[in-house]
Parts: sequence; C-alpha cells; structure tokens
Amino acid sequence: MAARMNKRSRGSAKKRRKNTLVKKSGGESDFLLEYERMPKITFQNTGQSAECEADWSLREVIQNQGWPIPFGCENGICGTCLITIGAGATNLSPVEEIEDMTLQAMGMREEHRLACQCRVKGDIEIAQ
Ligand code: FES
Repeated sequence: MAARMNKRSRGSAKKRRKNTLVKKSGGESDFLLEYERMPKITFQNTGQSAECEADWSLREVIQNQGWPIPFGCENGICGTCLITIGAGATNLSPVEEIEDMTLQAMGMREEHRLACQCRVKGDIEIAQ
C-alpha cells in the first residue's frame, strides 16, 4: 500500500490538482484545472512505496517512511546515504558537484546516488 505525503493536507485524492492559466482565443484568461499524478517512490527491499509532491527531497521521503537507509551529514559529503537506483534514475534531480565528487571518491557508478542530494521529479525505485 502506498503511503501519501503532502506538504499541504489534500485528503486522500489519488491525484493532485494543478492550476494552469490558459489564454482563451477571445483574449480572456481562465483557469483550467488539470490533474497530475504524484511521483511514487518504491523501496524494493520491502516492497513499500510512498507518493510525494514533485520536487520533494528524497531524504525527506525516506525518513518520513522510516525506511532503513542511514543518513549522516545530509550535505552530500559523507556518503552514508548511498543508494542504488533500481529504476527511474532520470526522474531524480541531476547530480551536482558535491554529490559527484563524493560518488567519484567512493568509486560508485551511475546507478548510485546520495539520497540526501536528490529531489524527486517522477517515479523511482530504490534497489538499496
Ligand atoms: S548523509 Fe552524508 S552524503 Fe548523504
């Protein structure tokens, strides 16, 4: 069962509403309500999953769910929060300089990320 995580309480709806300003042909503006699915993070070791707002910190998701991934510095330096991405690596924020330096120093490959440095953009699966 997927746990839901919202910065703002939005009940149990499966999708979040997104307001989009749309220009009508007559020059009038109006709001169109469209639905966007929330990213789903799955922890393959336990089969547990959680949904969160797009752009949430992966660290926050993991810590809120109580998944057994340790954190240390939370600044991308110690490497304690090293994870292996099982699927959806492109749905995370790009690797930035500090994370890249730490991963290289640890000799890690592309499928590895530091959970404290990632923002969730779409569905991902954490292999470990
Ligand atoms: S907790 Fe130190 S690098 Fe993520």
